[in-house]
Amino acid sequence: MRTTTIANIPPFPAVALRVLDLLSAEDVRFEQLAEAIDSDPLFSAKILRVANSPLFGHRAEVDSVHYAIVTLGLSHVQALTMSVATATYMSASLKTEELKRCWHHSVASAAIYRSLARALSLPADRAYTAGLLHDIGRLGLLVAYPREYAAMLRDSGDDPHALLGREVELFGVDHCEAGQFLVEQWGLPSAFGPIASQHHLKPSGETSEWLKASYLACQMADSMGFSVIKPCQVSEFGGLCEMLPAAARQRFQDEAEALKAVIDLGISAHDSTVSSPPEPAVRGVGIDEPQPEVPPAPSADSRDLEPAQPASTLSPQAARKPITVAAIVVLLVALCIGILILMR
Ligand SMILES: [Fe+2]
Ligand SMILES: [Fe+2]
Repeated sequence: MRTTTIANIPPFPAVALRVLDLLSAEDVRFEQLAEAIDSDPLFSAKILRVANSPLFGHRAEVDSVHYAIVTLGLSHVQALTMSVATATYMSASLKTEELKRCWHHSVASAAIYRSLARALSLPADRAYTAGLLHDIGRLGLLVAYPREYAAMLRDSGDDPHALLGREVELFGVDHCEAGQFLVEQWGLPSAFGPIASQHHLKPSGETSEWLKASYLACQMADSMGFSVIKPCQVSEFGGLCEMLPAAARQRFQDEAEALKAVIDLGISAHDSTVSSPPEPAVRGVGIDEPQPEVPPAPSADSRDLEPAQPASTLSPQAARKPITVAAIVVLLVALCIGILILMR
């Protein structure tokens, strides 16, 4: 491993590490946790926005961090915290389509992992966090080397497995190994280490349900169109579902119908926490309470093409108007003075 590669990966947001540290204590107090999150107002506002997004939407509006902790539970808050922390971590690097695809792949994998966990009767919120972090090594590499990583993705061809070899050639380490290292380095829960390092290994009979679900979530994200390279050779979605036990397969397929729309809306909610200041929380629609009439969200692409502009640049006419009025007043005053001089 090239130590310089790892040394150049910037640290994770401090507020997220503090929250994770508190969550790891058995006797953590809700007030303590809310205080830690609220210590960073921007972070706390982003938490509320994502809490009310389709990825985490609940019937009641989540309008405070304390309310989120009390009503949603600690594991849900951990998932929310990691969700916002990873988006914040990457925000400065999301300048190209290639790098955005990496982030969208992580959000999609997280939502799919959570659905798989529900079907397999595993803890769903923990699965969401694990899905988000499964490619944490990749996120670290692209934050440290955005131009080089984007160029690698552009020139990589359509074989996602070949990427691991290219990463070793270019950075001296692949994202699986880097992920395992970062989980340890940043003090993230150790259960995420094997997921970060082994999610590309095809499951065998000995593979735990957790690891198998991480493999499936990553592969399914690719096959649903959320791959990090395009075009991309993907496994057939139905074939991946076949790897689930029959009962779990049926439960998962019942949810999978709505999954793509939920992921699209969730990505939009996340992208908006990265690209614009937070707005007041709005009631969301979660996968637990599907609402078919959700209006389509604008795509990340369309927002990128039409970035918000300062009011002064929105309309040239509007910007010139005060000057024009002032000029007319000056002319009228000058005219009056001129007439008075002539009348003397
Ligand atoms: Fe990966
Ligand atoms: Fe992945």
